[in-house]
Amino acid sequence: MTTMNIHTPCLVIDGAVAQRNIESLAAYTKSKGLGLRPHTKTHKSLKLARMQIDAGAVGLAVAKVGEAKVLAEACDDLLAAYPVISPQRCEELGRLACDRAVRVVADSLAGVRVLTDAAFKTGGTLGVLVEMDIGMKRTGVQTPEASLQLAREIDDAPGLRLDGIMFYPGHIRLQPDQQQAPLEVIDAVLMETIDLWSRSGLEAAIISGGSTPTAYQSHMITRMTEIRPGTYVYNDMNTVRGGYVSTDDCAARVLVTVVSDAVPGQVVIDAGSKMLSSDRCSGAPDAGFGHVVEYPQAWIARLSEEHGMVEISGCDTRPSVGDRITIIPNHICPCVNLQDAVWWLDRDGSLETLAVDARGRVT
Ligand SMILES: Cc1ncc(COP(=O)(O)O)c(C=O)c1O
Repeated sequence: MTTMNIHTPCLVIDGAVAQRNIESLAAYTKSKGLGLRPHTKTHKSLKLARMQIDAGAVGLAVAKVGEAKVLAEACDDLLAAYPVISPQRCEELGRLACDRAVRVVADSLAGVRVLTDAAFKTGGTLGVLVEMDIGMKRTGVQTPEASLQLAREIDDAPGLRLDGIMFYPGHIRLQPDQQQAPLEVIDAVLMETIDLWSRSGLEAAIISGGSTPTAYQSHMITRMTEIRPGTYVYNDMNTVRGGYVSTDDCAARVLVTVVSDAVPGQVVIDAGSKMLSSDRCSGAPDAGFGHVVEYPQAWIARLSEEHGMVEISGCDTRPSVGDRITIIPNHICPCVNLQDAVWWLDRDGSLETLAVDARGRVT
């Protein structure tokens, strides 16, 4: 089996590149004394999770409980980095916590109450991190004082263990050499918060943060104990255009076939929004729906569900009907979640299918 005789469109993972991405960040975190807890939302795969653990990850992060149930097969230290507030889902976390370390984040009293009930009903002890908003304006309590208030509730709740603080710096998308100032702002907020907790007799043993754009600058947040990057395992055009990696570090590429050149100035590929997702590139909305590796001047201008319209007027040479070309998607995470399985291209050139084990686990 080679990439020449598999059906297209399909997602092909270059195993050597993924392994290199995993090892490189593992080496950095080790050198800085930081824990690495990869977010599995990107690959949703037991194989990749095991590779990350083998490279030294301290545990895994998931968003949803459905993902946690799948990834529990690969790891006995899980963090649901999402405010889980469904009683049924919290009970499932409580059951998982009976024989492994399970942590979850909370940013509301209502959430803490649901977790407390779930721990009581299941007998599992849930570690809880207070989520703080440090600039993304998505989830998380707004001030150090509010974090202390919630921390006290968690500390008093039977069945819950106050483990620390979680934040996500997803708003920082500056070039690496411009990140110091915003990372120092986060560090200052964390220091103030840890100090406030400590004066109230509360300890934040875990400070969980991190993202792919800030991954290699993580040491600048001196109080952080672990990071949760996800995208770094495969990378995508968001991480390339952000200046964090080069296209050589993109392990996941969509193999497509040109199916039409009937309209002048364009070719049509057999991948549309059901394959590439409709995500635009963050910070570069006009950059099209992905990067055509073999024809860098081509522009994926429009997508319908099964068609990708690629403008080629700027290209020196043009692909013909029947040609296979490769696309680096803008945002790899939703692209992976659209696949039941991907192709794994091993170092030795062999190709095998790789199930996307937690595909579609969005609850
Ligand atoms: C809470 C949380 N943690 C970690 C990550 C991983 O970040 P990245 O995609 O930059 O690797 C995400 C991504 O959405 C997230 O939402």
